[in-house]
Amino acid sequence: MGDIINKKSIRLLVTGGAGFIGSNFIRYWLKEYPDDKIVNLDILNYAGNLENLKDAENNPNYKFVKGDICDMGTVAEIMGEVDLIVHFAAESHVDRSIMDSGNFVRVNVEGTRVLLEAAKNAGGKRFHHISTDEVFGHLGPGDPAFNERAPLSPRSPYSASKAGAEHLVRAYFHTHKLPVTISNCSNNYGPYHFPEKLIPLFVTNLLEDKKVPVYGKGENVRDWIHVDDHNRGVDMIIKKGRIGETYCLGGGNEISNLALTRMILRLMDKDEAMIEYVADRPGHDLRYAIDFSKARHELGWEPEIDFEAGLKNTIEWYKKNKEWWQRIRSGAYQEYYNKQYGKQ
Ligand code: NAD
Ligand code: DAU
Repeated sequence: MGDIINKKSIRLLVTGGAGFIGSNFIRYWLKEYPDDKIVNLDILNYAGNLENLKDAENNPNYKFVKGDICDMGTVAEIMGEVDLIVHFAAESHVDRSIMDSGNFVRVNVEGTRVLLEAAKNAGGKRFHHISTDEVFGHLGPGDPAFNERAPLSPRSPYSASKAGAEHLVRAYFHTHKLPVTISNCSNNYGPYHFPEKLIPLFVTNLLEDKKVPVYGKGENVRDWIHVDDHNRGVDMIIKKGRIGETYCLGGGNEISNLALTRMILRLMDKDEAMIEYVADRPGHDLRYAIDFSKARHELGWEPEIDFEAGLKNTIEWYKKNKEWWQRIRSGAYQEYYNKQYGKQ
């Protein structure tokens, strides 16, 4: 991490810190590095929820700024106050990108460009970019897992916009010598996961005795990683990763959607009658798998949370935090910002 690793206290700009992974990252970082200071820049779209960070809001080392990563004025102002950018902010849901791709290109591509440009203008700030395994496209059943040498070959508007962002990050490294790193991670799960994605949607539906919508035949395969393993990997890349390099992070837990659904049903004492097979996602990527041997060899990172144990704990979290997801379902969570912060 060059010069900033030796500083007693690092100042971070976390973008998208009110979302699922970003809020878990902020909680993780404040616990691991209590002297560091974090600015969380988030526009609070439908997935941005400040109730994810209730436990951090009174921490003097944490500051929330409601704003758009596409707005150069806001971004440039914050950039002067920080040493390191960890860039999570994005439109993140594939199904939404199929219905309306415009905001995906604006936020994921242009927003990343604005951040890179501001980081460059502020003297070349250290920049870690959160990408996804989806930029590599998809795999057939017997194909070897993706690694850092896999070409970017996205197949959905979401993954195409994330690939565009990734190209820009590398372009700023080569052209402007911006000190960047990139991580490509597989499907995360864990607490505070917005209930539109498979695991939280199915768990919360079952808690309300509703059926779970499996796309197509449920044969698509995803590699699930606990969000805490992902965030620990990001930390290690920031601290030990080589500038200009990409690191693939995965859970080593490939499972078909149907097998995962059956596992959730078993852990929640429900039967197969709760499955509803629905129309498939257009262009549905068949399989993702990640070879994380580079992260293991260079950083000493590997996922630590056993999938079934992590899933069980996650289900327990949704059982104990009914109010959290019911406030999302009712829309009440969107009032929390005005109540706590007033209008900025
Ligand atoms: P999320 O949708 O839960 O959170 C995204 C956050 O970004 C929200 O808080 C939202 O308000 C914020 N945001 C959106 N547009 C913004 C803008 N214009 N300005 C400022 N903030 C804005 O997403 P997530 O699942 O937490 O994913 C975070 C990042 O990780 C994304 O970049 C995603 O592509 C990547 N990723 C996600 C997964 C996964 O399984 N969820 C896996 C690999 C990579
Ligand atoms: O691989 C990393 C990616 O994982 C991230 O980059 C994305 O931001 C994140 O949303 C996630 O993308 P997926 O499309 O894989 O996640 P999702 O939870 O939407 O879907 C997981 C699988 O489950 C996928 O094959 C589609 C299927 N599915 C999803 C939903 C929401 C269903 O069968 N039914 C559903 O209702």
